[in-house]
Amino acid sequence: MKISYKDFPLLFILTFVMSIQKISNATDTITTTKILRDGETMISSDGSFELGFFSPENSKNRYVGMWYKKITVTTVVWVANREVPLTNTSGVFKVVDPGLLVLLNDTNGGIIWSSNTSRHVKNPVAKLLDSGNLVVKDANDDDPGNFLWESFNYPTDTFLPGMKYGWNYKTGLEVYLSSWKSKDDPSSGDFTYHFDPTGYPQHLLKRGSVVQFKSGPWNGLRFSGTPNLRKNTFYKYRVVLNKNEAYYTYELLDRSIISRVTLSESGVSQRLIWVDRTQRWEVYLTNPTDNCDIYRLCGAYGSCNIAKSPVCECLDRFLPKDPEVWKRADWSNGCVRRTPLNCQNEDVFLKYSGIKLPDTQYSLFNESMTLEECKVLCLKNCSCTAYTDLDISKGGSGCLLWFEDLANIKLVPEGQYIYIRMASSELELKRKKREILVLSLSLSMGMVLLGLSLMLYLRKRKKSNHRLREGGRQGYKFTDDHRDENHNKSIELPLLDLYTITKSTDNFSINNKLGEGGFGPVYKGLLEDGQEIAVKRLSRNSFQGLDEFKNEVICIAKLQHRNLVKLLGCCIQGEEKMLIYEYMPNRSLDLFLFDPMGSALLDWHKRFQIINGIARGLLYLHQDSRLRIIHRDLKASNILLDSDMNPKISDFGMARSFGGNETGANTSRVVGTYGYMSPEYAVDGIFSVKSDVFSFGVLLLEIVSGKRNRGFSHRDHNHNLLGHAWMLYKEGRSLELIDDYLGISGYLSEVLRSIHIGLLCVQQSPEDRPSMSSVVLMFGNEGVLPQARQPGFFTERDLFTAESSSSTNAASSINQMTITLMEAR
Ligand SMILES: *[C@@H]1O[C@H](CO)[C@@H](O)[C@H](O)[C@H]1NC(C)=O
Ligand SMILES: *[C@@H]1O[C@H](CO)[C@@H](O)[C@H](O)[C@H]1NC(C)=O
Ligand SMILES: *[C@@H]1O[C@H](CO)[C@@H](O)[C@H](O)[C@H]1NC(C)=O
Ligand SMILES: *[C@@H]1O[C@H](CO)[C@@H](O)[C@H](O)[C@H]1NC(C)=O
Ligand SMILES: *[C@@H]1O[C@H](CO)[C@@H](O)[C@H](O)[C@H]1NC(C)=O
Repeated sequence: MKISYKDFPLLFILTFVMSIQKISNATDTITTTKILRDGETMISSDGSFELGFFSPENSKNRYVGMWYKKITVTTVVWVANREVPLTNTSGVFKVVDPGLLVLLNDTNGGIIWSSNTSRHVKNPVAKLLDSGNLVVKDANDDDPGNFLWESFNYPTDTFLPGMKYGWNYKTGLEVYLSSWKSKDDPSSGDFTYHFDPTGYPQHLLKRGSVVQFKSGPWNGLRFSGTPNLRKNTFYKYRVVLNKNEAYYTYELLDRSIISRVTLSESGVSQRLIWVDRTQRWEVYLTNPTDNCDIYRLCGAYGSCNIAKSPVCECLDRFLPKDPEVWKRADWSNGCVRRTPLNCQNEDVFLKYSGIKLPDTQYSLFNESMTLEECKVLCLKNCSCTAYTDLDISKGGSGCLLWFEDLANIKLVPEGQYIYIRMASSELELKRKKREILVLSLSLSMGMVLLGLSLMLYLRKRKKSNHRLREGGRQGYKFTDDHRDENHNKSIELPLLDLYTITKSTDNFSINNKLGEGGFGPVYKGLLEDGQEIAVKRLSRNSFQGLDEFKNEVICIAKLQHRNLVKLLGCCIQGEEKMLIYEYMPNRSLDLFLFDPMGSALLDWHKRFQIINGIARGLLYLHQDSRLRIIHRDLKASNILLDSDMNPKISDFGMARSFGGNETGANTSRVVGTYGYMSPEYAVDGIFSVKSDVFSFGVLLLEIVSGKRNRGFSHRDHNHNLLGHAWMLYKEGRSLELIDDYLGISGYLSEVLRSIHIGLLCVQQSPEDRPSMSSVVLMFGNEGVLPQARQPGFFTERDLFTAESSSSTNAASSINQMTITLMEAR
């Protein structure tokens, strides 16, 4: 909407050429017999208002209307037959039984206009009150509660003092303003102005059915976006809100003051005050005031500042949703949090001040809550986006909550504050610098300690190895004679005794439990020499025979690579079977990647290092290890991180070894984790090295984006992360996939290449996916990559077909070191 200040003088000086014959014996009442003809008028008892027939400027049509009696510039404040004009002066205005006010086009002609009522009275009259309210009532009953009809309930474009502008829930009647079509035509124009209590009350300007302006919610003192509405010497105003009615009203403080609120034909609401000296209506307040008042001009989380150019900016900690469009001054798409919310973690609220509060259409409120209770309530509900005081008039009280994207925000003088929901990392980021310092300090101290304990450990191990050899029976020999012809010799694993393990884990104390795997719990242990270990304890009821256990041990013990977690030893004593691994101080990748604080610590350099480490570990499994192994459950929670954040693949419980010529196999029991499973494996149970490549691709895209594939959602489509990445890739917008935290400047081509490789790894058909050796090569050189095609399982719905999958998923996804055994085939 354009508001031109040039128009104002015309807007508020409403002059009409009228032919009104004054009659000497003015009356304020008409009845069934005492009728009003064209040329006659009614005058309120104190002489404030006059009612009669008139013609607007440049029009010959006749209307029944009301105007101020005491001022020289004739100003019509109400029109009866605004939609149906009379064409000549033979109209008659009168009361008819059982209590209707009617306008006839001739003494005996048809009804042009009529009031309505649901009640009957014996002696109906119509009276023009001093307030400018024309009422139909019983002649002897002055109780306003018994009025049959009143013009204050059907205003045209003028809001007079004492009117209840808003809603009466008992009658279902809304009192609102409706502009004239033009100065010549009082029929309903384009604009209406409402008091809208939906959510929490605010003024609302509509053009037709389109909202043009919202004033911001009532805050006890004024409407949040109308800073100029304040205590004054002319009038007082208030909002009434209860179960029967919701309205805004005002009254004049001095009977000598004449003031009104109008809605102009061009859609501007103004408070005008009559000034005797100038003999003019002077503008006191205007709504909307400037372009920043255009409804939702800056979109969600955008803020309008009329003093700036361009006027729209994202709120602090928000970024344009679509930067290209935003740059072209189309701000309607608004902004998004630079750190997405993650309701699972504790969110925080940040205070934003000096604003016109956002649209409250979908808000909830509570008048008796404190701000603290309000915060707690908002925090509980993931869809609650913001809160603030409901009423700021007495230092702040009550609770106002928002449940959707915040829009219609504008910077205003003496604006309010609001607490907007943020990912907790936003609070942390401010302190990040300090924390990183502390972290690196403690890390380096940790490294010193680690070094010391390693030295101690190595010295002790020398001794214990010696003892092992002496004891003879204490070492456990596994003979692996089927699997590997060339290495047909026994593997010697250090055997730890149950007592040592029990002691190291504080008798398997719950405090030391790291997680729960499909086959039993995992504990952290501390050996006497100071070495930290992770102990996987096989449940007694896991029905795993010694053969399978051996299998597992052989499988893992034979694998040695810096990107695979290392088995230190085992413990077999009676019913107890345990595997002892090196302990990974940084636990698993998912804890960093999908946590806003954690992910802030993973810059691009770290992420790229992790991706490469995983690729090398997997290549080793697939190709270079003596066993050649398909992992089958590659996922973020199975990637452990050592103190230097080097990735180590863990959990070979579902791993399968395959022969020299085989590259894959088939299984009737599909095990793995939703979101990482390749289509051919989830659906047909066919697994191969290429199903691991698929999982790797998913993991890669998760690492780049910082988002989970499963559970990923986007407002524009219902694809998962793979689908999202694919869509962006197709449109050449791959960079938008990237986790906001990554400081990627300088690495753009590396990032884009990684996304591209990730997409190649998740291709629908296994043949289209590169092998891990190709993947490692792709990362290593700058050669041209093949074009990626549509990935497999790119929408969540595809996964319904995979519902038959193993029940171990849930369990194995919560622990960091799942302990599982090779399946017997
Ligand atoms: C006004 O119009 C009505 C209806 O057309 C007609 O009956 C009546 O005579 C007219 N009155 C005058 C004074 O022209
Ligand atoms: C007067 O009212 C009657 C009944 O509504 C209608 O038929 C007639 O056309 C009207 N005359 C004028 C001039 O509006
Ligand atoms: C009176 O008329 C208005 C508009 O036509 C309508 O909304 C309202 O319900 C009517 N009231 C009664 C009491 O009939
Ligand atoms: C408002 O909050 C108070 C205190 O928590 C509670 O007792 C009351 O029921 C709430 N009122 C409404 C309407 O929810
Ligand atoms: C959160 O609030 C919204 C809006 O009031 C409501 O529809 C939804 O049920 C609430 N969710 C919870 C978990 O309370």
